[in-house]
Amino acid sequence: MSVRHFLTLLDLSPEELRAVIQRAQELKALRSQGVRPAIFSNQVLAMIFDKSSTRTRVSFESAMVESGGAAIFLSPRDTQLGRGEAIADTARVLSRMCDAIMVRTFSHDAAETLAKFSEVPVINGLTDSFHPCQLLADMQTYFERRGDIKGRKVAWIGDGNNMCNSYINAAQQFGFALSIATPIGYEPSQFANVSSSVELDYSHRPEQAVINADLVVTDVWASMGQENEAEKRHELFHRFQVSEALLSKARSDVLFMHCLPAHRGEEVDAKVLEHPKSVVWDEAGNRLHAQKALLELLLHGTTG
Ligand code: CP
Ligand code: NVA
Repeated sequence: MSVRHFLTLLDLSPEELRAVIQRAQELKALRSQGVRPAIFSNQVLAMIFDKSSTRTRVSFESAMVESGGAAIFLSPRDTQLGRGEAIADTARVLSRMCDAIMVRTFSHDAAETLAKFSEVPVINGLTDSFHPCQLLADMQTYFERRGDIKGRKVAWIGDGNNMCNSYINAAQQFGFALSIATPIGYEPSQFANVSSSVELDYSHRPEQAVINADLVVTDVWASMGQENEAEKRHELFHRFQVSEALLSKARSDVLFMHCLPAHRGEEVDAKVLEHPKSVVWDEAGNRLHAQKALLELLLHGTTG
């Protein structure tokens, strides 16, 4: 069997994605009963982090440790990657010592190179272009609160960034309609590859995008690596804050998500994060369960 990678949501079939989410829900239920199956017994995940992380690091590391395995945190400061060792060489070396590799880095091409030369599964833990693991947790959270997202409407408000690109992929794989509102010039790069099957609406008007939305999502205005653009972006993006007033224009049973970390008073009003419609804490917690299910599929070819 050839090795499977997870660099974007398009690397799994729609059926596999749904099976991963169902398995994540099973593993979550088992964990709440105190049962943590040893599905990664004696297995090791290497985790390369070229950017900061709280949720991604802790959820992957906990997923491995809770399931009988281990995770190794690798930062450029302490590894030869930081001194210029080639990604292709690193991939071949880690493949001989670890069962899977997770990578958080800047260029998506670097993650693709890692996968090309790796003999074990490579998982994208965020690149400048995509954040597919977050989408697994977001979809799990929607399914557990509201049931199937197929045929529903999602509104993406703010920057057309890595998360927005992954929402476009999710719309294709899960069959929901997507309305995106960004400032002019901040449209998602994934527009170039949108499948004709995706029901996509794009504007610069957040008030229009949220109408009839079942789920409203936003993210920071300046992503990691864009710190020097933050000031300019704050001026351009201020109309794109998710406020209580904006959320009230969506469906009455709308959910609000944000991958976190959040910047209160910028992309989201502090009250929205704590609003009854906000599910951001469950969304973050579900990273643990969704990634266990993903690892199980990639390492063992099964979803339970
Ligand atoms: N949402 C997310 O990926 O968070 P971290 O940057 O803390 O990993
Ligand atoms: N778009 C954000 C997501 C952080 C989890 C970033 O790339 O910094």
